[in-house]
Parts: sequence; structure tokens; C-alpha cells
Amino acid sequence: MRVVVNGRELETDVAPHHTLLDVLRDRFGLTGSKECCAEGECGACTVLMDGHAVNSCLVLAVEAEGHAVTTIEGLSDVDGLSPIQDAFLATGGVQCGFCIPGMVMSAHYLLEHNSAPTTTEIREGLSGNLCRCGGYNQICAAVARAVRGATRARE
Ligand code: FES
Ligand code: FES
Repeated sequence: MRVVVNGRELETDVAPHHTLLDVLRDRFGLTGSKECCAEGECGACTVLMDGHAVNSCLVLAVEAEGHAVTTIEGLSDVDGLSPIQDAFLATGGVQCGFCIPGMVMSAHYLLEHNSAPTTTEIREGLSGNLCRCGGYNQICAAVARAVRGATRARE
């Protein structure tokens, strides 16, 4: 399969049962996306495919052929973390950290489509992501902080 990951065109052989998550982690070494439930329940494996948030454990690798995928590794660059990553760091929105890449990708997707979400909309936007540590308040606070930062930047 060929797939564009974080702006780079990559190629690998896959078996029909391999998922996009398998390929990202095991072939391309992009281990930021996590595997937990492997059945679309927890959101730990969330990536963007052609700009849409998807559970990469539910996408067969062959279905990603020719598409553009963004993983958590693709949000930061040489200049540093993205605003939403910075907000998680500043807010202490991370406990064990396992769910956080998926949370960040879902939050990034939410803010791409709604630059000023309400608290309810933030919660709804993250409702497909489970945190086993239960730190939802700080996670939502991190997203709210990113929203405030973006609002100030626009003023
Ligand atoms: S590992 Fe994909 S949704 Fe849980
Ligand atoms: S921070 Fe531990 S699972 Fe969410």
C-alpha cells in the first residue's frame, strides 16, 4: 500500500487483515497512536484520514491506500508543539497519558470545525474517547484553554 502520512509518501506490504493502526505502529514506527480495545470503543487510536477523525483500528490498511493520514506525530513540527498539545501540557491534562494522543487528535479535529466550542460541545467532541484514569475535567480544561488562546490570538 501507499499512503501519505504526516506529509510523507510511504509504502509497505500489508496483509488483508492488517489495520491502518497496525501499519502506522509496526511498519512506520509511529507509536503515538495507541491500541487498546481494537474494536472502535475507546478512541486511543484516533488519527485523521483526509481530514476526518477515524479510529485507525477499524480502518483496514488497504482502505487507506492513496489517502492522507495525520497522526499525533504530525501535529508538532520543528518549531514545537501545536497549540492544543501545548494546552494539554500547560493544564496538566495528562495522567498516565495512554489516551492522550487520541484525545488530542479528536480535540484538534473539533477545533478545526468549531473554533469556539462550548463546554457541552467540547464534551461531545471528545465523547468517543475514553480515559481510564478518569481525568476528564482536566482534559476538557485543556481544550478550553486552547480555545481561549486561539480567541486571544484572533483579537
Ligand atoms: S483501539 Fe481503536 S478505538 Fe480503541
Ligand atoms: S490519562 Fe490515563 S487513560 Fe487517560
